[in-house]
Amino acid sequence: MKHTTPSLRDRVRAQLADLKLPGALEALDEVLAALDGGQLQGPAAIERLLGAQIGLRNNRRLVAAMRSSRLPAVKTLADFDFTFQPSLKREQVESLHTLGFIERRENVILLGLPGVGKSHLAISLAIAAAQSGRRVYYGTLADLITSLEEASLGGRLSHRLNTLIFPSVLVVDEIGYLPISRTGAMLFFQLMSRRYERASTVPTSNKSFEEWGEIFGDEVMASALIDRLVHHCHIVNIRGNSYRMKNHAALAAALRHDTEPSSRPPAPRRSARREAAAR
Ligand SMILES: Nc1ncnc2c1ncn2[C@@H]1O[C@H](COP(=O)(O)OP(=O)(O)OP(=O)(O)O)[C@@H](O)[C@H]1O
Ligand SMILES: [Mg+2]
Repeated sequence: MKHTTPSLRDRVRAQLADLKLPGALEALDEVLAALDGGQLQGPAAIERLLGAQIGLRNNRRLVAAMRSSRLPAVKTLADFDFTFQPSLKREQVESLHTLGFIERRENVILLGLPGVGKSHLAISLAIAAAQSGRRVYYGTLADLITSLEEASLGGRLSHRLNTLIFPSVLVVDEIGYLPISRTGAMLFFQLMSRRYERASTVPTSNKSFEEWGEIFGDEVMASALIDRLVHHCHIVNIRGNSYRMKNHAALAAALRHDTEPSSRPPAPRRSARREAAAR
């Protein structure tokens, strides 16, 4: 039996246009045909219609985020092959993508050797957040520090800091690859202090926390930084092979050493935070 007459169909079409729901409008004919054909029942038809609109909205948000958030690529959880990284707790990663950590202003720290998927997962978290309507920003540590240094020299530091404090998710990729100047480290510490308990940061690193002192050129500051980052955080330690080498298993095995980053924060230094704050 047909559920929809042409005039009813036109009225629904006009309502969807009036409400500015182009995704639902585009899906309308197909959904009504499925309803009339008996392939869809009432609630499922409503769900399909609304789902089409949500899909369109999410794509638009993704396009806008790719422009404004400096995300380098589109990487999603659906593209991530968990069978390649058996050490990874799939439930933990999937649960993080439901984004409760953003509500709770917690951080997600991704650790592991090159090519294990740290940036992929950091970007997929940022994309999920952008699709849910949150503001996100991506930068490598080196890029973020360069932008802070330039802003500082140009007298625009507080403006730049505000830009980086505001996003609900800030990905700080590639901590540990490039050397950082003392001023750069201090500016980054300032940024992290301002974001602490205010918004989620997603750092990635190929180095264990014990080695962060060397990266930042200052053990006390690194310790105070780690203290803030790990206070409310999820640590995802990826122990496995580089995906980039997945077709070169023998080479990967030869290159892999057992010095994978340890997620154990260094021994607490009681005075670290006070000393850093006093600088
Ligand atoms: N498990 C996986 N499933 C599908 N693609 C993956 C997986 N792991 C990594 N990749 C892909 O492999 C490439 C390297 O991964 P990624 O850039 O995330 O590594 P990384 O851990 O950030 O490495 P680096 O420390 O060198 O920056 C990317 O193109 C990524 O999308
Ligand atoms: Mg990376």
